[in-house]
Amino acid sequence: MNCRSSSMFPFLFLFLFSFSWIASADRHEDFLQCLHYQNSNAISKVIYTPINSSYSSVLQFSIRNGRFNTSATPKPLVIVTPLNVAHIQAAIACSQKHGLQIRVRSGGHDYEDRLLSYMQESFPELGLVKEDCIEMSWIESTVYFAQFPRNTSLEVLLNRSPRPTSFFKGKTDFVKEPIPKTALEGIWERLDQVDAGSAELQFTAYGGKMNEIAESSTPFPHRAGTLYQIHYGISWDEEGIEAYAKYISWIRRLYSYMAPYVSKNPRQAYVNYRDLDLGVNNLGNTSYRQASIWGTKYFKNNFDRLVRVKTAVDPANFFRNEQSIPPLSSW
Ligand SMILES: *[C@@H]1O[C@H](CO)[C@@H](O)[C@H](O)[C@H]1NC(C)=O
Ligand SMILES: *[C@@H]1O[C@H](CO)[C@@H](O)[C@H](O)[C@H]1NC(C)=O
Ligand SMILES: *[C@@H]1O[C@H](CO)[C@@H](O)[C@H](O)[C@H]1NC(C)=O
Ligand SMILES: *[C@@H]1O[C@H](CO)[C@@H](O)[C@H](O)[C@H]1NC(C)=O
Repeated sequence: MNCRSSSMFPFLFLFLFSFSWIASADRHEDFLQCLHYQNSNAISKVIYTPINSSYSSVLQFSIRNGRFNTSATPKPLVIVTPLNVAHIQAAIACSQKHGLQIRVRSGGHDYEDRLLSYMQESFPELGLVKEDCIEMSWIESTVYFAQFPRNTSLEVLLNRSPRPTSFFKGKTDFVKEPIPKTALEGIWERLDQVDAGSAELQFTAYGGKMNEIAESSTPFPHRAGTLYQIHYGISWDEEGIEAYAKYISWIRRLYSYMAPYVSKNPRQAYVNYRDLDLGVNNLGNTSYRQASIWGTKYFKNNFDRLVRVKTAVDPANFFRNEQSIPPLSSW
């Protein structure tokens, strides 16, 4: 249950992308003028449109999955790389004024660890000893998870040049009851299939202190009652629709196979490993009923509370994405 391979996961960014689904040159000009008007304070240094020679490299810089690096992937009209709060405010105010949609680049993970003594008590058959473990500071673990060789200097974290990316798809489950041995054998069989490519499963232990945190304490509801989370991932390097179909189908089949062994009604999912297979909002028209399908998987009963917050702070649904929380006005 060693967690490896995080190169496929995005790390923290603060890039604002402004999209317009109805591409309009005027709108985009008005938006740029608005930005300069709102914030003359050197904002042009952080605005990129396709005419800027560095537009492509700035866009590419934050792509961490080849599936979103195709000619069919919508490209932002404008990229803003804000350096301060005023830049963010100007980008939001002007997008709203001129009918552009904002997409924010960001990400983050919240893994917790395990204890050696607990492993020896609960899983003595694994024979885990201190020598099998590597003790390191949190910052060193970031370098480890990014798969740099041991003892690589922390300076490597200052290197922001993108590393080569492959195509990737992930899904998640939460496990409430021990999975029977036969089910684990079924997982092994699937991992041996050719279509598994470089698939991997990560099991993140819950329990302990996490068991004391009720569903309603924070928007993330999956702590109390969860034994562990499974993250299924598959990555591949071959370009093209055939490879895409093969590997996506493999992970979807594995996900179907796992249904009897994981949380149910709803089958819970982790919002930080967003999975668009669970459903998406209609473009420009979010419906509460539709969004409840994935919203309750990610947030359980907290979904309704989030809808109330959304309704209070963004009734016009300005901040939206494929799986955003809808305001209550939209049924
Ligand atoms: C992009 O091009 C515009 C127009 O020439 C310029 O004003 C802006 O400063 C450029 N952006 C960057 C980040 O250099
Ligand atoms: C990493 O550095 C430590 C301390 O300098 C050393 O004891 C250890 O052998 C090194 N490990 C590797 C894999 O180089
Ligand atoms: C995206 O695709 C382009 C050309 O197809 C390639 O040069 C670039 O390295 C890719 N970027 C990423 C982040 O995969
Ligand atoms: C959004 O939903 C409303 C009400 O159901 C409908 O009238 C409108 O045509 C929809 N708009 C789009 C863009 O689908």
